Amino acid sequence: MSLGTTTGASLLPIDEDIWQMSGGDVRMPGGALFPTASTVIRLPDRSLVVYSPIEFDDATAAELASIGEVAHLIAPSRFHHLFVPAAVARWPRAIVHASPGVAAKRPDLRIDRVLGRDDEPAWRDVLAIERIEGVPKIDEIVAFHRPSGALVCADLVFHIARPPNLRARIVLALMGAGGGRLAQSRTWGFLRSDRVAARASVARVLAWPIKRVVPCHGAPCAIDASGLASRMTRLAGGLVPLLAPTAESSREA
Ligand SMILES: [Fe+2]
Repeated sequence: MSLGTTTGASLLPIDEDIWQMSGGDVRMPGGALFPTASTVIRLPDRSLVVYSPIEFDDATAAELASIGEVAHLIAPSRFHHLFVPAAVARWPRAIVHASPGVAAKRPDLRIDRVLGRDDEPAWRDVLAIERIEGVPKIDEIVAFHRPSGALVCADLVFHIARPPNLRARIVLALMGAGGGRLAQSRTWGFLRSDRVAARASVARVLAWPIKRVVPCHGAPCAIDASGLASRMTRLAGGLVPLLAPTAESSREA
């Protein structure tokens, strides 16, 4: 598929078989508005993985239908599950994946697979998964799309160039993620309970041959592991030495 094909206004092609789909702004405590987005990955069988579902309506759902069939929904963190029930209702046959923290927080939610570090058979040649450990109050699952080198995350980093309102601008500045930069919120450091586990997770993430990052809050951005390493210090509690990508981490689909 070429990059410019099929998509409507909401689907931003990132590379072959991966898109960012913008949703509405979400209102945070205190009134800050944050832009939201899902990342959509198409598997070799043309089924779709929707990471962190936005609030879909019929139009955005139709856009997804134009590129494939939604087969997997991922609720990646304790902060990213709000629109999952509506997505489950819209695509009842989709397999629902969630971080352990979501499973604990949302017993009302039908969760078919709790994600950890194990590969999901349906996507193991295309996607790798890592649980960001040591921060159970967030408990975020990030993904690596092997063909495009995209690190897909929820709140691991923000890249909000234009905050939707003044409160968002203030909150981002207070979190150390203002100015339109790709940056990690101080929240990770505040909520981290196990520095060793957090550093180990960051090291595993940075061992992937990353070429870009696709956040849920803000625009995709070209960056490699060394560029990301300098942005992980709040979570990791300092710089994490980079390791050469392993055969496993660089495995191509
Ligand atoms: Fe978020």
